[in-house]
Amino acid sequence: MEIKYKNPIEDVISSYVNLKRAGRNLNGLCPFHNEKTPSFTVYTDTSSFYCFGCGAGGDVFGFIRKIENLDYVEAVKKLADRAGVTIPEGDYDDSYLKLKNKVYEINKEAARFFHNYLFTPGGKWALDYLTGRGLDVKTIKHFGLGAAPNEWDGLLKHLKEKGFHLSDMEQANVITKGSKGGYYDRFRNRVMFPIIEINGKVVGFSGRRHPDEEKGGKYVNTSDTPVYKKSKTLFGFNFAKNHCAKQLLVVEGNMDVVSLHKAGFENTIGTLGTAFTSEQARLIARYTNEIVLSFDSDAAGQKAVARATEVLSESGLKVRVLAVPDGKDPDEFIKKNGPERFMALLEGAVNEIEYKLFMAAQGLDTSTPDGKAKYLNLAAEALASIGSPITVDLYAGRLAEQYSITKSTLIKEVEKIRYAKRKTQKKKEIQSIIRPVYRNNEVNPLKRTNQLAVAAEETIISVLMSHPDLLSKFENLTAEDMISPINKRIFKAVAESIMGANGKFDISLFGDEFSPEEMGYIASLQNSKGPFIEPKKCLSDAIAVLEKERMGSTPSEAGKLADDDWAKYMEKIIQNKKRSN
Ligand code: UTP
Ligand code: MN
Repeated sequence: MEIKYKNPIEDVISSYVNLKRAGRNLNGLCPFHNEKTPSFTVYTDTSSFYCFGCGAGGDVFGFIRKIENLDYVEAVKKLADRAGVTIPEGDYDDSYLKLKNKVYEINKEAARFFHNYLFTPGGKWALDYLTGRGLDVKTIKHFGLGAAPNEWDGLLKHLKEKGFHLSDMEQANVITKGSKGGYYDRFRNRVMFPIIEINGKVVGFSGRRHPDEEKGGKYVNTSDTPVYKKSKTLFGFNFAKNHCAKQLLVVEGNMDVVSLHKAGFENTIGTLGTAFTSEQARLIARYTNEIVLSFDSDAAGQKAVARATEVLSESGLKVRVLAVPDGKDPDEFIKKNGPERFMALLEGAVNEIEYKLFMAAQGLDTSTPDGKAKYLNLAAEALASIGSPITVDLYAGRLAEQYSITKSTLIKEVEKIRYAKRKTQKKKEIQSIIRPVYRNNEVNPLKRTNQLAVAAEETIISVLMSHPDLLSKFENLTAEDMISPINKRIFKAVAESIMGANGKFDISLFGDEFSPEEMGYIASLQNSKGPFIEPKKCLSDAIAVLEKERMGSTPSEAGKLADDDWAKYMEKIIQNKKRSN
């Protein structure tokens, strides 16, 4: 496949991940989950990648698919472009592309429907609500806000009249299938905020409950669809992207975004109620250098600040935090105090450490010895997260002076906390190595109940991938010998690949046949088992085990291993494997 050879996996991946050579392979920090020590490996031999931390894996197409959120055909096109290869029209299956376009059309029509409804008698309550919250018609139109009627099929009927099919509406997630098989509107009796992508297309909706309504979630959002991934989207970024060269303001609430834009802070975006992902951070980093976070000051908000700071700093962004006084939303604050006062807050936004020190003091009376001790303990905890010793020293000096204690006492405490943190970090890393095993359990559920058989199947497949010549030596072995359905499919594909592709196994022939999760499983089989010292014996042993397991009617003893023992067992294997690398 020309496209594949013109896109060496290490070249493609290194434009997203900082890779370092480690022997024959390359290592780096996984772009698909948050980590501090690299568990993401690129195997140049097999042209594949695998992350021991999160189980992501596959070939170069799988990588592009996952990181750019594309389907298989789009990924192939993207890499073809990159390599300057043209694919003749009609040479690929474009049904998914067509579906995506339908979903875009439906979203556009739905947004129009909700927006128009806002200005009818039925939508008056929502218009009153929005103006009651300080918005004018200009802002409402700018954001395309709307209202969903209090009916089961208001939108459904409208879209039907426009000629759309139920199945496409369902794909767009604007209608839902009920338990009796009938369809109904997903958004009913709600204030509607269209979610608009950078290129100006409506990709989904966020619907706020009617103010008099108690039941149902406060907000209902579009679930992931062919055109919408919540881990990639930010509310208001389509506007903010043109105003954030200097800094980007990030808030939690949709209403906050809208009212901040109205107040002149057009560099504001909303998180749509989810934790920051590295995908979002990478997107943002293309448009701005500095982020100001303004989240709720409750415990959940503080946690969100810590997580967002980490993810955003990894993308090289400078992060400051703005705490709105009295636990208010930015929206409420502006309404009460005006934009100038908010601007002052924005200018006074502090770095994460200052923010933590500030939050630590909340609710404590630091004039009493007890309150002071509590505060300094929390402060030490904040300092323990700082990387630079000079910075720690500076803050410790300031705190020591402020609270009349010796600096060395404070620094000792910081070190103690650091030590404890490192220990839990280690534990977590081991956990994260074990976790892929459980993830693979999801791809292959029989791993739980038929562990021995599946282990044998995996060995067989893994040996064949690295020693394809052995396939012809075991003529009786077929996909039907596999017990687990997924391994049947993998075996079949591997065997076909070996017989087709000049006797070699080629993972890139798998991309359109297996889901990204399944590709992760396949990559783990390819990369985490061998090298096999005696592949032939390994293979015949595994075949024997599998045969015995197939004959035996009761699951083997191994199948009864408790989860805990299983985790320990895996840890041992992994430690061994790490040593042999
Ligand atoms: P809040 O509960 O703080 O709502 O959630 P809010 O924005 O202040 O609501 P208003 O001002 O009363 O209208 C913050 C954001 O989290 C998401 C929404 O994007 C919301 O704007 N969220 C919240 C959800 O997605 N689902 C929920 O059930 C609640
Ligand atoms: Mn609010």
